[in-house]
Amino acid sequence: MTYTSSAAAGTATDEIWWRQATVYQIYPRSFADANGDGIGDLRGITDRVPYLASLGIDAVWLSPFYPSALADGGYDVDVYRDVDSRLGTLDDFDAMITVLHDASIRVIVDIVPNHTSDRHAWFREALASPKGSSARDRYVFRDGTGTNGTEPPADWESAFGGPAWTAVGDGQWYFHHFAVEQPDLNWANREVRDDFLRTLRFWSDRGVDGFRIDVAHGLAKELGPASAVLPDAATLEAMPKDGSHPLWDRDDVHAIYAEWRQVFNEYTPARTAVAEAWVAADRRARYASAEGLGQAFNFDLLEADFHAGSFRSIIQSNLELAEQSGSSTTWVLSNHDVVRHATRYGLPVRSSRDQRQGGAWLLAGGALDAVDQELGLRRATAATMLELALPGSAYLYQGEELGLQEVGDIPDAERQDPAFFRNRGVDIGRDGSRVPLPWKREGSSLGFGPGGSHLPQPGWFGESSVEAEDADPDSTLNLYRRALDLRRQLQADEHLDWLNTGRDDVLAFRRPNGWTSVTLFSDAPYDLPAGELLLATAPVTDGALMGVGTVWLRM
Ligand code: NOJ
Repeated sequence: MTYTSSAAAGTATDEIWWRQATVYQIYPRSFADANGDGIGDLRGITDRVPYLASLGIDAVWLSPFYPSALADGGYDVDVYRDVDSRLGTLDDFDAMITVLHDASIRVIVDIVPNHTSDRHAWFREALASPKGSSARDRYVFRDGTGTNGTEPPADWESAFGGPAWTAVGDGQWYFHHFAVEQPDLNWANREVRDDFLRTLRFWSDRGVDGFRIDVAHGLAKELGPASAVLPDAATLEAMPKDGSHPLWDRDDVHAIYAEWRQVFNEYTPARTAVAEAWVAADRRARYASAEGLGQAFNFDLLEADFHAGSFRSIIQSNLELAEQSGSSTTWVLSNHDVVRHATRYGLPVRSSRDQRQGGAWLLAGGALDAVDQELGLRRATAATMLELALPGSAYLYQGEELGLQEVGDIPDAERQDPAFFRNRGVDIGRDGSRVPLPWKREGSSLGFGPGGSHLPQPGWFGESSVEAEDADPDSTLNLYRRALDLRRQLQADEHLDWLNTGRDDVLAFRRPNGWTSVTLFSDAPYDLPAGELLLATAPVTDGALMGVGTVWLRM
């Protein structure tokens, strides 16, 4: 396949390139495998830069590619300033970034500061060192309770299920928000802080344009003598909004990011960052401020049902919040942690934040014939085109441009996600959105690589492959390409005006330059306003949008 690039990203000195960028998330181990070991790698990404350029994206965000035992898909980092040997070398990284930059695609890498892996040199040193040592002080160790400390300091549950404290055999226990293999760092420790500044400079010096900050709201902790009862943080609504929770979204976390900002601003253009912070909407502004990380993920649309009223209020409130923070807002519909939106929108019933929103369907075996795939995809492309017409940056997830459905029925024996192992029978985990991409209709791992695929690809993947969709002018892939090309041409001031549609199942808004987006959330035809038709995800007949879909007009 050969592609011509329509890349027209801003120049390297463009300080605000990120404000309305389209960022494509690559989950490197599942993108493309050049060396044939069944795991995607950096050369695989470099080889596919022509494809990435053909999409018309502004940047890629790479999930972790650092040395890791993959206890949590690479979010358990052994070494922060290196590349996992299965994924390549630092030279491969440098070559990749050069080729991406030559194609005018910027590069964002993932930083995982809340926890290291249990194989990190620091954690091994901590285990070999006595209680009270400076090596233990880099992590969160506490004495156990009960006779000889055989009981945990507190009865807290980890985010993947199971206890959040693990004993090390000498009466002490260490704290982990996530899996046992992911010990939390102590951010009150100056050495920890300095080492991350070094990591940020290391990747910035190699030309990285920005960072995605994992669990950005979890770094600051105030455990004191670990108390037995934690304030409820199971839902964002329940989480205290005054920064008083011992573990989440504490106000003192922002002192860390103020230091990081100094480092980002040492570079020209300044390096950017986006916070993964699961906090109440009005607490996002500080993460997104110009003195902090600069931008924060907004997962509100990702958690919402496909419903005009919910979409409108989420969009409106997030635009207002962005204005208050001085940042631009972000939009996300899919990522490596949730059920793909083409599937979510086709599920018979789901409840928000339940099983990464796959709920009962995943627990019942995740068979695709229980999903209305056709409706799911129609809603997904409608939602995506609406998202792409909004002010702010859009974060797309690899494979959504192919309209990929979630792989819900991975056999238990093949699953990798710790959420599955730590929560058996309750949480199936997130592997279904991480299955290696289908590049070809047939052949070894459908073109992912010559050596198989680390998660099994289902038979139906081939028909959603890049090869199949490339050849079909009406494919989801070619729709994304047309949309991203138009988005570049039409990009306008970060503002919109809602249009009165006279219907509660239709949302329409107009950007200052006349770029207008109309989304119909039902199958009751809707007469479109007059204007030049630029793009439609559903049939338009005699000036009416005939079913669920989004239309872009110039008015
Ligand atoms: C958020 C990441 O997106 C997720 O994949 C990971 O499991 C947790 N943080 C822990 O690092």
